Amino acid sequence: MNSIYEVNKLIYATEDWKKNNETIALVPTMGSLHAGHIYLIKEAKKLASKTVVSIFVNPIQFGRGEDYESYPSSIDADKKILETEGVDLIFIPNLSELYPLGTDVDTRVTVPQISEILCGKHRPGHFSGVATVVTKLLVSCSPNFALFGKKDYQQLLVIKRMVSDLLIPTTILGMPTQRDTDGLALSSRNRYLSERERTFAPKIYSSLLRASDVLKKKGPQYFYKVKKEIIAELESKEMKVEYFEMRKAQDLSVPEKNDKGLVILIAVWLGKARLIDNIGVEL
Ligand code: PAJ
Repeated sequence: MNSIYEVNKLIYATEDWKKNNETIALVPTMGSLHAGHIYLIKEAKKLASKTVVSIFVNPIQFGRGEDYESYPSSIDADKKILETEGVDLIFIPNLSELYPLGTDVDTRVTVPQISEILCGKHRPGHFSGVATVVTKLLVSCSPNFALFGKKDYQQLLVIKRMVSDLLIPTTILGMPTQRDTDGLALSSRNRYLSERERTFAPKIYSSLLRASDVLKKKGPQYFYKVKKEIIAELESKEMKVEYFEMRKAQDLSVPEKNDKGLVILIAVWLGKARLIDNIGVEL
């Protein structure tokens, strides 16, 4: 496994592969790898002859007062995992490689509308930060495929829109959310939970399952009734619900009466951890 720290070395390495008719799958991450990331990597390996994993904690997608400074890092353990998984190349740039002029006056990519709702409303600038860094990674790696988790469903749609609008020739794939045995979606931020908070956390997914069941059995108009009950229940378990919404799966707009492809999305604060999850509902 080759570890690369500079953008131009990544460009040379991937250009060489392309000349030899290799195909490339990229899995962008912020490190602190868990089984959700590893699943993406295993799927990437099935898709292409070469797999690249990037590890970069991207400052511009964190808001002021968020956890950029304390974001968990385990680079040595991550490298071991990636070696075991048979990844061909890891890209670990430092800040000045990706932001040569710093992060005050750099060019940004902004995907309108879809970036401004749900998580975007609560984390202004977040999705522009994600879109900017993912553009840089796609341009310098030029992968045939890039894999993202549906756990960050809004992020996935923002990236799909961006790639389509900017005519970037990479196929973006959304992969199913990997969960702990009790249903909690795997996340690097689960490490922030105390033992007590961890016992409450599975309620997030069980609430999504319950709401999904109500939609399927009674119809989407019942969402707003069950929403109130669910929020009250979650808040009785020390959670602060930032949003709990039913949207169209295709573009996260508010569903109309006969829409069939829906998604229910949630963001909660539990102690120091901001946790998100969602469930697709096909009516
Ligand atoms: P990070 O949180 O490290 O996640 C990297 C990738 O793993 C994302 O595509 C995310 O959706 C996926 N992922 C995380 N938890 C998952 C789970 N439980 N099941 C399946 N996939 C999961 O998301 C980011 O980093 C950053 O925003 C990034 C895209 C790298 C841009 O900085």
